[in-house]
Parts: sequence; C-alpha cells; structure tokens
Amino acid sequence: MTDIKKGLAGVVVDYTAVSKVNPETNSLLYRGYPVQELAATQPFEAVAYLLWHGELPTDVQLRQLRATERSYRSLPADVRAAIDLVPLDAHPMDEVRTAVSLIGARDLAGTGSVLDASGNPDENLARSIRLFAVLPAIVAYGQRRRRGQQPLAPRDDLDYSANFLWMTFGEEADDIVVDAFNRSMILYAEHSFNASTFTGRVIASTLSDLYSAVVGAIGALKGPLHGGANEAVLHIFDEIGSAENVGPWLDEALAQKRKIMGFGHRVYKRGDSRVPTMKAALDTLVEHYDRPEVAALYDALESQFVERKGIYPNLDYPSGPAYNLIGFDTLTFTPLFVAARVTGWTAHIMEQLASNALIRPLSEYNGPDERHVEGYVPDAATLAAAERAEESAG
Ligand code: COA
Repeated sequence: MTDIKKGLAGVVVDYTAVSKVNPETNSLLYRGYPVQELAATQPFEAVAYLLWHGELPTDVQLRQLRATERSYRSLPADVRAAIDLVPLDAHPMDEVRTAVSLIGARDLAGTGSVLDASGNPDENLARSIRLFAVLPAIVAYGQRRRRGQQPLAPRDDLDYSANFLWMTFGEEADDIVVDAFNRSMILYAEHSFNASTFTGRVIASTLSDLYSAVVGAIGALKGPLHGGANEAVLHIFDEIGSAENVGPWLDEALAQKRKIMGFGHRVYKRGDSRVPTMKAALDTLVEHYDRPEVAALYDALESQFVERKGIYPNLDYPSGPAYNLIGFDTLTFTPLFVAARVTGWTAHIMEQLASNALIRPLSEYNGPDERHVEGYVPDAATLAAAERAEESAG
C-alpha cells in the first residue's frame, strides 16, 4: 500500500537557507534572524535585501537598493493600460497577476528561445528588485481606480512603506501608521515552502522564467486557504458586526461546519509566530484611530474560537483589520500580501535555480483498469512495441 502524503503534509522536499519555521518553538527566522527583531528594527527594503543576499545591508548597500527601488516606482503606461483592460469587478489579484505577466513579457521580449528564459543570477536579482519596486504602484492603482481615482506619482522623498501609503491615499501617513504597515510587510515577506512559494519553485524548476514563476505564485496566493484569508477575515468581521454577536454567530458557523478564516495553520498548531507582532501593530492602530470596537470584536472572536476549537489565529487574522483601519479596501488586502511576499518568492526562485532539480512527484493511479477503444486495430509497429515492452517487463 503506497503511503500517500495528501497535500504533501509533512513532506520535506528540499533544503532552504531563506527562512526557518519552527512550530515547536513557535519561531520564524529569516536568514537566521527572528522575524520579530527584524519587524521592530528594520525598514522593509533592508529585509528584502536580507532575503535576496543572505545578510542585512550596510548603510551604503541600503542606500543603493533604495535608489534603485525609487527609480522603478512609477506605474508604466503600458501596465496601467493593461490594468484598465481588466474588468472593474474582477478581483484585484487578477489585475496584479495580469500586470506582472505583461511586465515579464515586455522584459523578456527578444529572448531567442525558451532555453534562455531562466536567466542568470544577476539578471534575476535585477528583475526581483524591479518587481518589488513597481508592485506598490500596481496595488495602489488597483484600489484607486475602483474608487474612480487617477494613479498618483511616487514621492522620491519617502521610503518604501511611506511611499506605498502615499501612492494609495494621496496623503502622507502618520509615522505610527507607516510603522505598522512596514511591520506587516516584513511579517508577510517570507514563510518557507508555503503553497505559493512552492508553486514558484515548481515553475522555476522547469527553467521557465522568474516572471512566470511569480505569476503562478500570485495565482496560488489568491486562494482563501492561503493569502486570500486576510480578505476573508474582514468579510467575517462585517458579517458578525460587533463583539456581542460573536457567540450566536459562532454557534451557527460551527453548526454549518464553516471554516473560520484567519485561524489554523498547516505548520503551526499552537499559534502562529507572527501573530503577537502583528497584533501589537493592530493595537497601536486601534488606539491611533480610536476604534476600540475593532479590538473588542477581534478579542471576542479569538477567545471564543480558541476556547471551543483549540485552533489559533494566523497572521491574516490581525493583518486584515489592521489594513482596514489604515483605509485599504478589503479587496486590496491580498494584493498587499503579493507586494510583500514577492521578496520571499524571488529569493526562493533564485535559490531553486542555484541548485536546481526538476520538481516532479509521483502519483498512485486509482482510475479504471486498462481498457480499449472499440474497433481499434493496432498497426504492426504498435504491436511490436507492445511485445518488446512485455518481454522487458517479464
Ligand atoms: N476553522 C474551522 N475549523 C478549522 C479551521 C478553521 N479555520 N482550521 C482547521 N480546522 C479544522 C478542520 O475543519 C479539521 O477538522 P476535522 O479534523 O474535524 O475535519 C481540522 O481542523 C484540521 O484542518 P485541516 O484543514 O485538515 O488542516 P490543514 O493543515 O490542511 O489546514 C489551513 C490548514 C490553513 C488550510 C486551515 O487551518 C484553514 O483552512 N484555515 C482557514 C484559512 C486561513 O486562515 N488560511 C490562512 C493560512 S496562513
């Protein structure tokens, strides 16, 4: 009897030096650094550098990365035109996927053959930085066009997180808000072999190009069992309304065997290592915007769900309401996750290419036994091949 590892649960498929998730100690390390320490001390640009290079940048290296990032921040006209072709009532993840696909096609135009697609490490690093730099413009424009607004030019005097908020809202955000947003980007940046990262690695392993791998990863992230959960948390909050309604709402949801989005994790079973840091950021936002009812609903759902099911919140649980308080539309939450996770994805794609093996697992067939199309008469060559196969099998 073949031991099937449904969902690849518990299967270790490769080494990675990018991050370490340890459910036993409830810790997450990026290149050896605890994510909490990075979130408390680093700008997102420095964490992106760390994921790509393996070390935190020196001041000079950070300045150089920031200069490059600033030079690719604007929304290119053709990308805007492509986004405008996506129906306004399509999900914004479809816009982001389309935009990255066009950027890839444009960048790789003139590539002679598929044999050149996977690129070299320097090219792939440059592509990664350009995607990291342009994604805020894509995500911000997605939200703005749904609100009937024009895109905004980036601000050269602002760092990544502050500029991202500027390009979305056209206002300079308070430092507290920039800090909470920066922390969320760092916490979302990387998480080992999650579904979208693994998708990216599978695509990279065929020696396809980095953009195709990122486009595939975006598709995987869209699902509500993965990145789409941060959006789904807000839908649940809207359904419940207020803390007093949590009890009856939960009774009904559990009776219907609904999955409560923002809770549970394939790897962490006793709580997600990133939640306390993001919850602290949410608390500062609750205070800043004077919205205690958000914290009350958050706490009530968490405590009652944990008490009844013993299943703990994951990062999407605090980040959903945090993004809502900052002013992001619910539909924009998962695209924000893309802007953060593109750093981890690209670090993994480059790691995969540096020590590549085609990812191609096996399956156990459980379909009908061999059968034949009525009236089919094999030709002589087919018969001979079948005989040879039987002989070598026997
Ligand atoms: N709400 C209700 N029940 C849940 C649950 C949730 N959020 N998460 C897990 N469970 C239950 C399952 O129903 C299942 O119960 P059963 O054994 O009685 O059938 C059990 O816990 C195991 O869940 P399962 O889905 O098989 O575990 P998994 O490791 O495959 O799932 C997730 C991990 C993330 C897919 C799952 O917890 C989930 O769907 N969570 C909600 C989506 C989400 O927040 N995703 C973001 C992840 S970072």
